[in-house]
Amino acid sequence: MTENPRTTIRWERSDDGVVTLVLDDPGQSANTMNQAFKASLSAVADRLEAEQDSVRGVVFTSAKKTFFAGGDLKDMIKVGPAQAQDVFDSSMAIKRDLRRIETLGKPVVAALNGAALGGGYEIALACHHRIALDAPGSKIGCPEVTLGLLPGGGGVVRTVRLLGITDALLKVLLQGTQYHPKRALEAGLIHELADSTEDMLARARAFIGAHPESRQPWDAEGYRIPGGTPSHPKFAANLPAFPANLRKQTAGAPYPAPRNILAAAVEGAQVDFETAQVIEARYFTELVTGRIAKNMIQAFFFDLQAVNSGASRPSGVEPRPVRKVAVLGAGMMGAGIAYSCARAGIEVMLKDVTAEAAENGKAYSAGLLEKALAKGRTTEAKRDELLARITPTADVRDLAGCDAVIEAVFEDPALKHKVFQEVESVVAPDALLCSNTSTLPITLLAEGVERAQDFIGLHFFSPVDKMPLVEIIKGERTGGEALARAFDLVRQIRKTPVVVNDSRGFFTSRVIGQFINEGVAMVGEGVDPATVEQAAAQAGYPAKVLSLMDELTLTLPRKIREETRRAVVESGGEWAGHPADAVVDRMVDEFGRTGRGGGAGFYDYDARGKRTGLWPGLREHFTIPEVEVPFEDLKERMLFSEALDSVRCLEEGVLTSVADANIGSILGIGFPGWTGGVLQYINGYEGGLPGFVARAKELQAAYGERFAPPELLVAKAERGETFTDG
Ligand code: NAI
Repeated sequence: MTENPRTTIRWERSDDGVVTLVLDDPGQSANTMNQAFKASLSAVADRLEAEQDSVRGVVFTSAKKTFFAGGDLKDMIKVGPAQAQDVFDSSMAIKRDLRRIETLGKPVVAALNGAALGGGYEIALACHHRIALDAPGSKIGCPEVTLGLLPGGGGVVRTVRLLGITDALLKVLLQGTQYHPKRALEAGLIHELADSTEDMLARARAFIGAHPESRQPWDAEGYRIPGGTPSHPKFAANLPAFPANLRKQTAGAPYPAPRNILAAAVEGAQVDFETAQVIEARYFTELVTGRIAKNMIQAFFFDLQAVNSGASRPSGVEPRPVRKVAVLGAGMMGAGIAYSCARAGIEVMLKDVTAEAAENGKAYSAGLLEKALAKGRTTEAKRDELLARITPTADVRDLAGCDAVIEAVFEDPALKHKVFQEVESVVAPDALLCSNTSTLPITLLAEGVERAQDFIGLHFFSPVDKMPLVEIIKGERTGGEALARAFDLVRQIRKTPVVVNDSRGFFTSRVIGQFINEGVAMVGEGVDPATVEQAAAQAGYPAKVLSLMDELTLTLPRKIREETRRAVVESGGEWAGHPADAVVDRMVDEFGRTGRGGGAGFYDYDARGKRTGLWPGLREHFTIPEVEVPFEDLKERMLFSEALDSVRCLEEGVLTSVADANIGSILGIGFPGWTGGVLQYINGYEGGLPGFVARAKELQAAYGERFAPPELLVAKAERGETFTDG
């Protein structure tokens, strides 16, 4: 182990013999399980053992805003299979030290002053009593699975012994649920809530006073795991359902964490505590040293942090929160945007052509809130407050004083020009002007306004209340201040902004188009459509490819394709087309199947629009039984088509940030999370960039020029680089 003089746990002993261990990593904003912490924990365990005669009890608490942040991800992302033994040893060392404190025979209390996630909750689990401050931002749980990991500090072993295998898996480990303190209490994760720090410390002392010889339930005589072990007949009857549920959760996509968590929990429940710790450490090591956890840590921790903290926001522009926004168009998108803004405390003027249409848009929010109320997620008072912030109107004069405009009328450039002309002189003279267009160039739309420098694209995703991403599109004339303000607005409504430059389909719509085209092209080659859908699911896509095409309608991409073709040809370029085009044309022209909206597409639908199954005609008209495309190729063609087009977006300057590409692809268009996003997928591909290039060339030879690796990719592969920012 490296020398580390830094002490991250402060020892404070009071006259009555209570030792408070204050987690406080000097110079860091949060406590993590870094080398210094490991050394400090070991030293603390030594000292407690040495001075135990004078120690009445122990309280763990923290001097930071959060109790403890968890594993040191900067370290974890670096280790590979060669470091497996070190990772295992380090996991075992933490477990041993926590175990020494747990079995000292003295009462140990966790006083959770803020979030205790992952490693933080694992420290708390090793305490005999857990008290949490009931603070609004506080969260408790084991979210490791969302980073492709499992809790390797005894979290699996102890939650199984605390809650029983079923509850440990379903409530804590497999979903990675983060509980507010109140809910953590209900779920049995903690014992008590406190109103203030003083109250919490008083409660900790009271526990110590009342339990001079505390020990864990699992160390008590005759202890049995709640609900039984896997050899218990009742549990054994339920066990077979777990692997099936797991398959359902991951749809066969390569997420190793849930599988390892299940194995660590089930195997660990059948052996003694110490052996279970070893089993947990082995499964943990396998994940930490593997590829997928690295992809997921990169995307869901580092990239997400970079994106949300403003890496793509111009600096030097003073933040100026939006107070009143005009939402133009109260249709599907406008209604959702109005709700999201009002939820964040912004006054909303929701404008449509008639008062009735505007009222309907507001009714959408009322509907969402009724559902939230029924589920106990909001109160009547909060519902009323939120609804009071939305004012429906058909009168443009009501938009006076709005400091931002978000336009979501029909996708028609002339109409968009017209509505902006109407509002520009009514709203605040420096109001930010945003369009939610999904396909029209921002530079073109900006021609319709006086202040093109304040005009910008804000591309929301449907359904707006659920989708976390907003793609911000800079037009040629968009100013830096408008970009910063748009960025701040997206953060103000608690969504994640990625920033791209104007281009046809921007980044997200363009790249997802490649995925859909690839799936449709496979049908054209004669591949059985059910196999195509299965390939998408097993690659890890949340939506199957042909069903997605039906949702978008087959006619819309055809219209966009025609417009693009015309534009390319007019500018003297060559139009290559895509093998999918012929399939879409036949579906629409020959069979009249335009997608879900038209009642029939690749799928059949019942009268209520519910999918009833793949259209049998597909097999009849397209499938060629002799065609054999390797299943691996089907999956990789989907993933590669999007990754390669993302590299082209970088080359063309549509994308300027790797983090934005990764996050935009996962949160916006469902690129599988296990990859870490479109560009991390290339970094993490077997053999790195050279391996990816070689495979792209194979796909190019077998399936066409669209798989040719772009120059930027080839050059980076040759230079031994990866896709990273800065
Ligand atoms: P929609 O058809 O549901 O709603 C459009 C609304 O605009 C209608 O309520 C209509 O009455 C209203 N409208 C028309 N003229 C108006 C005017 N002069 N003043 C005020 N309101 C007027 O359409 P949707 O799906 O909400 O789409 C709106 C925009 O958002 C389009 O530009 C679309 O391309 C874009 N978009 C759509 C997405 C989707 O998934 N549907 C995703 C992202 C962007």
